[in-house]
Amino acid sequence: KRLPADARPLAGRHVIVTAGPTHEPIDPVRYIANRSSGRQGFAIAGALAALGARVTLVAGPVVLPTPAGVDRVDVETAREMAAAVDAALPADAAVMVAAVADWHVAAADQKIKKQPSGAPPALALAENPDILATLAASPRRPALVVGFAAETEQVLAHATAKRARKGADWIVANDVSGGKGESVMGGARNSVHIVTADGVESWPDLPKEAVATRLADRIAAALTA
Ligand code: CTP
Ligand code: CA
Repeated sequence: KRLPADARPLAGRHVIVTAGPTHEPIDPVRYIANRSSGRQGFAIAGALAALGARVTLVAGPVVLPTPAGVDRVDVETAREMAAAVDAALPADAAVMVAAVADWHVAAADQKIKKQPSGAPPALALAENPDILATLAASPRRPALVVGFAAETEQVLAHATAKRARKGADWIVANDVSGGKGESVMGGARNSVHIVTADGVESWPDLPKEAVATRLADRIAAALTA
């Protein structure tokens, strides 16, 4: 059964979505990771595809099925994610949901061994490329660039500053401090604030799928305005 044309407002549009954590190797058997499950980003990719978009989902290491109608590119590190986003351009919109590691390690070629002295190894960290800021400043910038901000304090102040610093059109801000029962990272629900040039729109606490549907509708409205 075919959907009416207005149910597929993103037909002919390409959207890039990043999701999940990145893994940054320390040596051949160890890595730095974070608590992102990829759930919110995968739901957003699926919701955009349901509105007719061609969706490239650049996914860090997660255990989730690929949403229907979504083209998935699996990556491990932030640097691989940056390259995959670049390779997926051009796009009409980009939604950067991934919890990208801020640093990578100058990884050892061999497994790091304990020292008889008990001295722990020093990990030399170097900053990863900022995929969102790079894309927002790029000559191939999508018309709509959406970032996420996971904060544990001063959520709106940090998110507003982040929007300006990174050159995003919208920042979807959430409080990941936890303590209110189930935590956002890995959990099923999310309460977010949409920070735009026009101000802040606060949504109620919703299942991640519902946040995804609302955000996809808002993206469709912005791209077709
Ligand atoms: N992001 C990115 N590349 C990075 C780091 C972050 O694309 N190397 C994106 C995330 O996907 C998210 C947004 O930037 O959409 C904000 O990420 P966040 O970690 O909250 O911002 P940071 O600038 O890294 O600031 P913080 O010091 O708070 O971690
Ligand atoms: Ca960060």
